[in-house]
Amino acid sequence: MTAPVFIFGLVSLLKILERNMKYNPLNEIDLNKENPIILGIETSCDETAAAVICGRKILSDEIASSANIQALYGGVVPEIASRAHTDYVAAVVERAVKNAGITYADIDAVAVTYGAGLLGALLVGVSFAKAFAYALNKPLIAVNHIRGHLAAAYLDSPDLKPPFVTLLASGGHTAVLYAKSEAEFEILGATLDDAAGEAFDKVARVLGLQYPGGPNIERCALDGTANVPMPKMLKGGGGYNFSYSGLKTAVINYCHTKEQKNETYSKADVAASFQCAAVDVLVEKTIAAAKEKGVNCITVGGGVAANTYLRQALQAACKKENFRLVLPEKRYCTDNAAMIASEGAVQYRLGNFADMSLNAKASIPLAATLETVQSRRANAAKGG
Ligand code: KG4
Ligand code: ZN
Repeated sequence: MTAPVFIFGLVSLLKILERNMKYNPLNEIDLNKENPIILGIETSCDETAAAVICGRKILSDEIASSANIQALYGGVVPEIASRAHTDYVAAVVERAVKNAGITYADIDAVAVTYGAGLLGALLVGVSFAKAFAYALNKPLIAVNHIRGHLAAAYLDSPDLKPPFVTLLASGGHTAVLYAKSEAEFEILGATLDDAAGEAFDKVARVLGLQYPGGPNIERCALDGTANVPMPKMLKGGGGYNFSYSGLKTAVINYCHTKEQKNETYSKADVAASFQCAAVDVLVEKTIAAAKEKGVNCITVGGGVAANTYLRQALQAACKKENFRLVLPEKRYCTDNAAMIASEGAVQYRLGNFADMSLNAKASIPLAATLETVQSRRANAAKGG
């Protein structure tokens, strides 16, 4: 079944339901529930994921991935991702609910990634979540994928409370943020060009390593030594901003020059040198930001946070400087639905719900991603 047929089917289902039933879920829910049960659905890239959380506790977490098929093409092919989502989404959601040990009736809200990501892939999740929420008369919550990565820190950390400094290191963004509250962020610095994950993926390609680049560079680097000179990466300069394009170009130039001269070189040494350069600057700037903001806690989010070298470097630096480090488990750094449910819980507390006009959005700039979503509850209390 192709994505358009699937979406047409869901839309038709919605129309039939519309005639038979009124969607009015907010009348039926307890907004003050301390630990709401949230179903999260994530289909922004090549993972079809669904998870159920209760408060910050993960009850279930299911993923079906098309990554092994995508690896044959050296990157994510959007149409293959969309088709895989249509094949998997219903079964993955059903499994998540079953493994959580709950019934559909127990769900307090359905949170779904609406952007950013591959449009066709997002549409499958958004259409499914809309139909699901409508059919069960449950509130719908629109989750920004990157806010999900940031909210992963709350999972299984019942005592984590802002303010803290967050390092966001994903495939599309790299930034150091000051989290004032669960919903308010200040950008202290961001990448001026490529994101850290993007640099890992591009360098992997140069080294002939398979997609996704990050884990493969990490594996390759285990056999190498960081002895290849790399550029300084705005270290000690540029405030909390980053620049990865110079590092990427340095690796490309090094490899090409060696190849042109018919000289051999160690891919493992290049991978290790690149990894050190790419990661050390993240750690240095995050620690400096935390000191400047006077917080005592640092959190991390995004796929690059699954990198063992980064995790160990952050752990060592935080221990030395006496910061609490909240490092989500590796599986909650890369794409998953528990993080979407976690951000869903934040929005639930704020009273921010979507309606049936929710649409998918392929790109959302970082500033808009971090814009404070006005709390409808606070507005209502003010009479707004
Ligand atoms: O956070 P993410 O899902 O991207 C966005 O949502 O934008 O993360 C994907 C990125 C990819 O660039 C991937 O290569 C990188 O995270 N990544 C890693 C590792 N695992 C995933 N980078 C370095 N080391 C890893 N172990
Ligand atoms: Zn992601």
